[in-house]
Amino acid sequence: MSSSGVIAELHRNSSNWGKVVDEIVKLERKIFPKHESLARSFDDEMRKKNSGLLYVEVDGEVVAYVMYSWPSSLYASITKLAVKENCRRLGHGEALLKAAIQKCRTRNVHRITLHVDPLRTPAMNLYKKYGFQVDNLIEGYYSSDRNAYRMFLDFDAD
Ligand SMILES: CC(C)(COP(=O)(O)OP(=O)(O)OC[C@H]1O[C@@H](n2cnc3c(N)ncnc32)[C@H](O)[C@@H]1OP(=O)(O)O)[C@@H](O)C(=O)NCCC(=O)NCCS
Repeated sequence: MSSSGVIAELHRNSSNWGKVVDEIVKLERKIFPKHESLARSFDDEMRKKNSGLLYVEVDGEVVAYVMYSWPSSLYASITKLAVKENCRRLGHGEALLKAAIQKCRTRNVHRITLHVDPLRTPAMNLYKKYGFQVDNLIEGYYSSDRNAYRMFLDFDAD
C-alpha cells in the first residue's frame, strides 16, 4: 500500500523542532529496547552536522521517521527507521526509506550502509526490497545477546 502521509524534513532552526523531537523520543522509547534506542541522545544526534531527519505526520502527530547521516564523502548511513505500531503496513516505512535513499544520493555517495537486528523481519524485508545486501553479521552489536547485520546498497558511478 502506498503512504498517504506527507514527508517533511526537520531543519535545525525550524519552529516545530521541540515538538517533533519530543514526539520522536516518545516513539523511540515505545518501539526500541533501551540499548537500541536513541531516546536519550536524540536531540544531540540531530544537531550533529551531516545528519538529516525525515518524518511523517498524520493529524498533526508524528507517526514515522527516518534518520540518516553522511559521515564522509564515501558513504551514508540510515541510522534509524521506525513507524508507530498502529500505523504500520500503510507504506510509511517504505516511503521514508525511499526518500532517505534519495537524500543520501544527493550527497554523491556510492554506498549506503545500515545495521539491523536479523530478527526484525519487517525491516529486513523492506531493506531487501530496496536492494540492500547483507555484508556481515556483527555479534553482540546491540547487546551481549543481540546481533546485527551490517547491510549495504551500492550505486553505480554516474
Ligand atoms: C520496519 C518498519 C519501519 C516498516 O514500516 P511499515 O510502514 O510498516 O512498512 P511498509 O508498509 O512501508 O512496508 C514496506 C515493506 O516492508 C516489508 N514489511 C513491512 N511490514 C512487514 C511485515 N509485518 N512482515 C513482513 N514484511 C513486512 C515488506 O517488504 C513491505 O513491502 P510489501 O508491502 O511489498 O510486502 C516497521 O515495521 C517498524 O517500525 N518496525 C519497528 C522498528 C524497526 O524494526 N526499525 C528498523 C530497524 S532500525
